[in-house]
Amino acid sequence: MKYDFDTVQDRSHNYSAKYDERKMKFGTDKVIPLWIADMDFKTAQPVIDAMKARAKEGIWGYTSRPDSYFEAICSWQKRRKGWEIDRSLMSWSLGVVQTISAMVYLFTPENGSVLIQPPVYSEFYDMVEAWHRNVVENKMIERDGRWSIDWPDFEKKLEQVDLFLLCSPHNPLGIVWKPEDLKRMADLCIRHNVLLFSDEIHSDLIFHQKKHTPVAALSPEIASHVVTAISGTKTFNLAGLQASAVVFPNAHMKEVYDHYWACMDIRRNNAFSLTAMETAFNEGEEWLEQALTYISDNFDYIHDYCAKHIPKIKPNIPDATYLVWLDCRDLGLSNEELHDFMIRKAGLGLNDGCTYGRSLNGYMRLNAACPRSILKQAMHQLEAAVNSL
Ligand SMILES: Cc1ncc(COP(=O)(O)O)c(C=O)c1O
Repeated sequence: MKYDFDTVQDRSHNYSAKYDERKMKFGTDKVIPLWIADMDFKTAQPVIDAMKARAKEGIWGYTSRPDSYFEAICSWQKRRKGWEIDRSLMSWSLGVVQTISAMVYLFTPENGSVLIQPPVYSEFYDMVEAWHRNVVENKMIERDGRWSIDWPDFEKKLEQVDLFLLCSPHNPLGIVWKPEDLKRMADLCIRHNVLLFSDEIHSDLIFHQKKHTPVAALSPEIASHVVTAISGTKTFNLAGLQASAVVFPNAHMKEVYDHYWACMDIRRNNAFSLTAMETAFNEGEEWLEQALTYISDNFDYIHDYCAKHIPKIKPNIPDATYLVWLDCRDLGLSNEELHDFMIRKAGLGLNDGCTYGRSLNGYMRLNAACPRSILKQAMHQLEAAVNSL
């Protein structure tokens, strides 16, 4: 079927955090919300149909997880990424952030240290600090708008840490890591005896003919050193349902992880996430392909618009994720001024770049997974605001 991504869905009455938390986040609800990472698109029709059928049942008691649930996830990974997952080493998790938190708590010592590559998803900082571990930064290097790893620094920092949190693909830079870069990072982690955790939540949102490589699929030796988080929540826009999966390198680590959650009796899918995820992985491909094309066209629109009308704003067009990293340094504003400018002058609710890299100045993150008309309005508002400076 042909999906419609142009129609604007009114999300302001459905408890969406993106819309209904605007006042709390930005101090006003008069902003176009292009922040938190979900899409303003309805999900795949088979998922909607399956959820309607589930809702009609009228009984949503404790939910057991059939084998077919993990089979759907494994078959998706194999089909789309060539990754053969050993199902006996898989666990369910509420969300990837919960898994990051558990990784830090369970697999680093008190006062331990964790390596991250800023600018990176802000929860990488927050979950490490939540457990009073030390954040060690291997800052990405920017040259002419291109970002790359500082390898000597990466290796040096590995000597100081217990765990490395890799964002693959990378949010907010949209980098699809090359296999050789992944191998180099993994080999160095092995050499320095640092556990590698790979957050692959964005690994289905890939553009420009790039290809995502699951780091654990590189070799059996690397697989024995890596914990991977995967999820359908970003892929199919189901974040409110809270269900993801983790793949462990060995039975012992899986047992430690499962025991931790069992202590809080957090181990079952809810009645709806079970249905949605299984259906999405089995029947959602057609929708995903069309969504990716639409989002890619949105990227082109942003790129062309900024180049033509707002040259002071330089968008980093991502190869993965639907998140565009905006270089606003030419506006000459401090982070605080930029924050206020986007809200009050441009009427946009974006994420501040400095939450992803705490020493950065002059960046914002824009979520481009919305109907084109909303994006057009946002770009017009941004242009007018920049011209008023
Ligand atoms: C890299 C990354 N990891 C994890 C998450 C959130 O995962 P979850 O909703 O499963 O906790 C996000 C959401 O934006 C993300 O960008």
